[in-house]
Amino acid sequence: MAAMTTSRFDTLQAPPKDPILGVKEEFLADAATDKINLSVGAYRTDEGQPWVLPPVAEARKRLIEGKLEHEYLPSTGLKSYCDRVDLLLRGKTSETSATVQGLSGTGGLRLCFEFLRRHHSPTVYVPAVTWSNHWNVLRDAGCDARPYTYLDGIKLDWPKLVADLEQAEEGAIILLHLCAHNPSGVDPSSEQWRELCALCQRKRFLPVFDSAYLGFASGDVDKDAAPFRLFCENGLQPWACISFSKNFGLYSERAGAVVASCASAREASAVRGHLGKLARALYSNPPAFGARVVDAVLADAALEARWRECLVVMSGRIADMRAKLRSALEARTARDWFVHCVGIKVRASARAIDATVCHAIDATVSARWRDGRCPRRSHITSQVGMFSYTGLNKQQVLRLRAEHHVYMLESGRLSMAGVTSSNVEPLAAAIAAVL
Ligand code: LMR
Repeated sequence: MAAMTTSRFDTLQAPPKDPILGVKEEFLADAATDKINLSVGAYRTDEGQPWVLPPVAEARKRLIEGKLEHEYLPSTGLKSYCDRVDLLLRGKTSETSATVQGLSGTGGLRLCFEFLRRHHSPTVYVPAVTWSNHWNVLRDAGCDARPYTYLDGIKLDWPKLVADLEQAEEGAIILLHLCAHNPSGVDPSSEQWRELCALCQRKRFLPVFDSAYLGFASGDVDKDAAPFRLFCENGLQPWACISFSKNFGLYSERAGAVVASCASAREASAVRGHLGKLARALYSNPPAFGARVVDAVLADAALEARWRECLVVMSGRIADMRAKLRSALEARTARDWFVHCVGIKVRASARAIDATVCHAIDATVSARWRDGRCPRRSHITSQVGMFSYTGLNKQQVLRLRAEHHVYMLESGRLSMAGVTSSNVEPLAAAIAAVL
């Protein structure tokens, strides 16, 4: 038989690199010894090393020394873990909650939106500036993702945000970042959350909270969970997609959850069943180890207290680095380092929006600093969580990579978690050099 020579995928072009993970690849390929990685949001110690949280290490040890088997979990995940995660988020137990294990943040979001598109609505309003992967997940789940205004430069554009949502389709789904907004680090105030809650009630929205940074904004899980709890108290029956990558340092274990608030225990049981059915077809059942670690920490009061202390340590170190970076920049740059650029039109319907377009939006919005209206470097210390939206434009970011081996996202987002006492001065010097 003659060998087949025709190509099956002849017309297929390699996809563009992921705007976040692709930068890390570039960083790894750089041979420089003084390079600085501020791309992917992953916590580093002040020595620039990943941190295995001590209570996590302890729980892991106990699990390994114990009777660890490797049987399948149910499609809905580890039951005790789901109950504890639900309690962690809500601060109290609920008969009407349907919580299932998810594959960390991304997998949970996919499961959540797969369910909501089938059983509720395909229309999802997404902050125009958001984590880039939201667009990919929503596209692949077949949702109609539509942007709503979030920022004006680095400030929350509250009037436009409210106006956009007032115009939004009634009963639609609204995606919110629970805390430590990625990429900007800009969260609504408590008063604004209350207004948003009333607006969602009026418009009968179904709120979905992306909860990837619980504990990273304030160092306190209960404070950071307040918007979700507020929406629950007001009968909005919000959903949440939780990731334990950052706050437990379990990046590769894919521990997460989808939390659905329902009207009754009967409804919760049906929702849980359908989420499990979808999981069965997507990946059958979730990985057990990360969930077991989280479960073991939350099951033991002493370990949980140590974990809560770790959140204070991580968020505290990041706040410290914010202050150091700000003063290092202030010492070096007399001029405002914000840039101006022309905006591009955000398309009204995001059906056509793909990740590339959304990146352009992100980058453009981040670069639209307005003369005299933007705060100066103080945004570095007023933003919260892992990221800082620096205001640097794409050209400056690319110069930082090429000339100074400093790697951040093209939108100007840098991961504060990668800033350390030893790289903060060279970082400030590099930024000052590209202004
Ligand atoms: C990030 O935003 O850097 C993290 O959430 C990692 C990721 O998967 O993009």
